[in-house]
Amino acid sequence: MAKNKTIFVCNECGYESSKWLGKCPACNNWNTFFEQKIIETKGSLKAQSNKVNSPKPLNSYEGKECIRMTTGFEELDRVLGGGLVKGSLVLLGGEPGIGKSTLILQICDKVVGEGKVLYVSGEESAEQIKIRADRLGINNDDILFLGETDIDVINQSIINLNPKLVIIDSIQTMYSEEISSAAGSVSQVREITTQIMRVCKSRAITTIIIGHVTKDGNIAGPRVLEHMVDTVLYLEGERYVSYRILRGVKNRFGSTNEIGMFEMIDKGMSEILNPSDILISEREDNPSGSCIVSAMEGTRPMLIELQALTSQSVFGIPKRTANGIDYNRLALLIAVLEKKAGLMLGGQDVYLNVVGGIRLNEPSVDLGIIAAATSSFKNVPIPKDTVIMGEVGLTGEVRRINLMEKRLKEAEKLGFKTCIIPESNKKVLKEKYKLDIIGVKNIGEAMKKIGL
Ligand code: TYD
Ligand code: MG
Repeated sequence: MAKNKTIFVCNECGYESSKWLGKCPACNNWNTFFEQKIIETKGSLKAQSNKVNSPKPLNSYEGKECIRMTTGFEELDRVLGGGLVKGSLVLLGGEPGIGKSTLILQICDKVVGEGKVLYVSGEESAEQIKIRADRLGINNDDILFLGETDIDVINQSIINLNPKLVIIDSIQTMYSEEISSAAGSVSQVREITTQIMRVCKSRAITTIIIGHVTKDGNIAGPRVLEHMVDTVLYLEGERYVSYRILRGVKNRFGSTNEIGMFEMIDKGMSEILNPSDILISEREDNPSGSCIVSAMEGTRPMLIELQALTSQSVFGIPKRTANGIDYNRLALLIAVLEKKAGLMLGGQDVYLNVVGGIRLNEPSVDLGIIAAATSSFKNVPIPKDTVIMGEVGLTGEVRRINLMEKRLKEAEKLGFKTCIIPESNKKVLKEKYKLDIIGVKNIGEAMKKIGL
């Protein structure tokens, strides 16, 4: 006999509790608990205990190389670890309007060959998708569309069609009748993913699930699914900047450090194979406050322009604005500049911007931030052909950073002449470069060498 029970589930992380809580003890978010009815069938436990499955030595199994298919985008293939793995379950998360559906539709077109692609959408009608496909220049008989939100119907058509790739756009719009809570709730999203996984994994059908996440993570979904799927990708970017970054967050078939860069143009997503080229191409001739830094994203170095602006503050408390860099990091570096280089920024507003709407989390850009702020404050430009890299410590020392050789190669490739790097890195350099490489020990020495 079925027994009805009510539980409360955190919409953010999936934590379950028998009573309502204001604050989630697991993820510390407030007001995220929602009531949900669950139906327990008594027989389920007993039925399970009758099943037998005995363990065998691991060595008796044969490890098969996974079969991969290319997505048509080099950038995406690299993030996936070499292409979409056959039979894998991929979750693509991102804010609404960032370009998930567009990117996926473009992949559908490239993946078809032998086998069909099933595009299930609960968000848009066939006409809307067709208009998008026309705009993207996609005209393919092997892409099949299903406008449906009931998971049972979807599963049935997957079984009937046996496609090679299934797209679920988006997980928040799908529902299962077995669960009483609304579409998009944690239990719905989990149940649907489990069901799709069961159907697709047993048939070696590759599946891509699209999930929306808002900035404050309000909508349930992607976060609670991360442990269930093989690969989690997030598409990020500022909505009004055309660059998009695809980040691997979890990958059972490859590394998670890789990122892919795309640009949203009028014909959909276009990959950017050499990001440094684009990110520094619009640079003005020697303006003060601008500097080129090197950030490693996965295995690829990117040269990016940082801009700083300091101006006399009109209010009592000076303002610090950081765009693309952690605010606290900026505050810390300004404090180091004041104390260790004697640069009086106490009465100045400081604005910092990373060009292209990109977010940099790496400490190797510290020295660049310091140089850009100093350059703006003194109104002295940093030479245009100089790249600055190094982590800055609280005592003003310039600390060693990783993967220096790769960064230098990228700078050399793009025609830079001078690189300011930590002295400790310079000492261990093995290869010869055409660059003028200057090692510095602390920020005072760095500023002198840059000419600030
Ligand atoms: P979409 O893929 O619908 O986003 P998501 O599925 O993540 O919600 O894309 C949304 C935006 O992309 C939309 O505002 C318009 C823009 N866009 C382009 O700039 N060029 C294009 O070719 C397409 C198809 C969309
Ligand atoms: Mg969409």
